[in-house]
Amino acid sequence: MLRGDIGLELGRRVADAVRAALDLEITPAEALIRPSSRPGADYQCNAAMGLGKRLRRDPREIGESIVAALDADDLVETPDVAGPGFVNLTLRTRWLAGHMRGLLADARLGIPRTDEPRRIAIDYSSPNVAKEMHVGHLRSSIIGDAIVRMLRFVGHEVIPHNHLGDWGTPFGMLIEHLVDEGFGAEHTIGDLNGFYTEARKKFDADPDFADRSRRRVVLLQGGDEPTLALWRDLVDESTRHFEKVYRLLGIGLTSTDLYGESFYNPYLSDTVDELERKGLTRISDGALCVFPAGFTNRDGDPLPLIMRKSDGGYGYASTDLATVRYWTGERAVTDLLYVVGTPQSQHFQMVFTASRDAGWLTAEHHAEHIGFGSILGADGKTIRSRAGGTIKLAELLTEAVDRAAAIVAERSELDEAERAEVARKVGIGAVKYADLSSDREKDYVFAWDKMLAMDGNTAVYLQYANTRILSILRKAEAAPDAAVVETGVTLTEPAERDLALRLTRFPAAVQSAIDTYSPHKLSTYLYETASSLTSFYEKCPVLKAEPDVRASRLALITVTSKVLTLGLDLLGIEAPTRL
Ligand code: ARG
Repeated sequence: MLRGDIGLELGRRVADAVRAALDLEITPAEALIRPSSRPGADYQCNAAMGLGKRLRRDPREIGESIVAALDADDLVETPDVAGPGFVNLTLRTRWLAGHMRGLLADARLGIPRTDEPRRIAIDYSSPNVAKEMHVGHLRSSIIGDAIVRMLRFVGHEVIPHNHLGDWGTPFGMLIEHLVDEGFGAEHTIGDLNGFYTEARKKFDADPDFADRSRRRVVLLQGGDEPTLALWRDLVDESTRHFEKVYRLLGIGLTSTDLYGESFYNPYLSDTVDELERKGLTRISDGALCVFPAGFTNRDGDPLPLIMRKSDGGYGYASTDLATVRYWTGERAVTDLLYVVGTPQSQHFQMVFTASRDAGWLTAEHHAEHIGFGSILGADGKTIRSRAGGTIKLAELLTEAVDRAAAIVAERSELDEAERAEVARKVGIGAVKYADLSSDREKDYVFAWDKMLAMDGNTAVYLQYANTRILSILRKAEAAPDAAVVETGVTLTEPAERDLALRLTRFPAAVQSAIDTYSPHKLSTYLYETASSLTSFYEKCPVLKAEPDVRASRLALITVTSKVLTLGLDLLGIEAPTRL
């Protein structure tokens, strides 16, 4: 069975034809095979125009010589050349039908494993201790988790890295406040935002407290044991809260993935020394800085990354340089990914440039900031709670499940326990899918009604499409696998063929989502697949069809169910078996 993008396979064939006909080497990607919207064509090859320019020949003639030399009879009908030189490619329906049979038996549904596995450290979620996770951390957690799942599925080694904000000067005041107030019933993590605000207020109003806080930072950084114990209390209390949110969300991050800022503390002085030794630092306003080339402020002055403040303290930027040095040096990763909001984009570009200058990132490494926009409320402003404060994630997720429960109760014959489970999958799925289905770089509006709609590009629409298939399969009472082995798949109706073609494009959709770290490319594909399925139902009865056709259609919807289920799973969304 053919694994991978059929478009890429066509690209290989075209590249061979170009070599044979024109004595020219091009890569399969350069064959420019694209899904076609022309009636009758499944793909088109757009290479002839560029080749024509390059060879100073008529592109139509080039297109014709490609067609003449093309050895793809097993896959496509005889191609024709259209317009200025587009080569229209139409898959043989028999090939498509055979391919469906292959997919039915393939747990990977045509998705190949990479032959260039990389070792990838991915920084995501990364909330701050003694603060509630906010929606930015929600997005990072959801997007990061989906990217991890896709990368792992194709065979990369992925090391999740939760860069917890657990170090730095605010901890002086937080620990002092903890000493004053204790950490009892009043100051549970649910109220840590309040805790933080109180500490801040005291710090600004009370010089004595501010003094104590500063001394406390020095104690903390000097490794004073009683201070560290208090600090650990804060960290533990916070991580318990974060882990609760991860469990609710079904995000795999655990305590072994914690590489908080404090983790890099022992590496900071060596990191900064190395930068100094390599002549990359300069004193500016008493602070030791690096000025990576190409970054300036509005007045054209070079922008610094502060490596060591005048008081000797290290900060966010030095920690990020130590992070790059650690992962490429000690953990030998090839890729560093950061799923962090777009406002930090410049910070990461500066960190990458400085890391290249220092030799911690080389040509073999790939470092990328995977940015994302904000979640907006109905008013178009960054989302806030009804009281106007930051949204508490645990409450938001509970509300999602409650709302889903109301929907499930309306329509289903499930018993109580099943219903709760399904409500969880639908509610959490809705929140995650709303995030993953929009282009991550854009802002999106958080709207319950929209994300829980039974129609449209929502998780529940896909989940429902899948349960509908499963219910047909239950009624059919025969494993389609067995029936089809005897009769094979036949694609006579256009709606059958359309659905089959769609299913063939699953590997390409996953690959393009991975290539650009854009889960929405996969979700768009899944939505289109569910839509093709709906059109198929309208034209093609399944259970009532003649035995051979019935077996074939059962096979087709079985593959569809598998694609939807795996696709949702790669996004981190569960597919209930009944709804
Ligand atoms: N804790 C930071 C924040 O909430 C995000 C950390 C991102 N990762 C990093 N390596 N800087 O903004």
